[in-house]
Amino acid sequence: MRLRWIILVAALAALTAGGSFAALKIERRNERTDLARNLTGGDPTRAPKLMITYGCAGCHEISGLAGPSGRVGPPLRSIGERIYIGGVATNTPENLVRWIANPKALNAKSAMPLTGISEAEARDVAAFLYAQQ
Ligand code: HEC
Repeated sequence: MRLRWIILVAALAALTAGGSFAALKIERRNERTDLARNLTGGDPTRAPKLMITYGCAGCHEISGLAGPSGRVGPPLRSIGERIYIGGVATNTPENLVRWIANPKALNAKSAMPLTGISEAEARDVAAFLYAQQ
């Protein structure tokens, strides 16, 4: 009888701890998203559709985006932790937006093509990439 109580209490404690861990993860994620919005001035919720429309996902595996994931370019994950973008420009929000909108302007020899994405749309995509781990 007593053992049952111990098991019940232990199970409850584990559940509570798991719940608060999940809440903490969600909170961290929301903080990252807010920061990414502020840094770029973009709206990350618009990005998934844009990344399909402009073919980003066809060439890149993109953290946080399910569906197509190409291998032509490098995987896009932990972008916020990178020092350089495309190996040529310092990783700042402005440079990331510039790269996405026109990679050839930063590196004329880059294999990444101009996709036709606008600067405003590139801001949304940059916000999404910075919000991902
Ligand atoms: C035809 C394939 C192709 C398409 C489409 C494409 N990319 Fe790329 N992308 C590349 C290649 C190849 C590189 C590496 C080029 C380089 O470093 O010069 C790259 C590099 C990048 C980088 C720098 C990555 C790093 O590790 O520094 C980012 C960010 C990026 N692409 C985002 C995007 C986004 C966002 C889109 C959609 C608007 C997109 N790409 C569309 C091929 C593509």
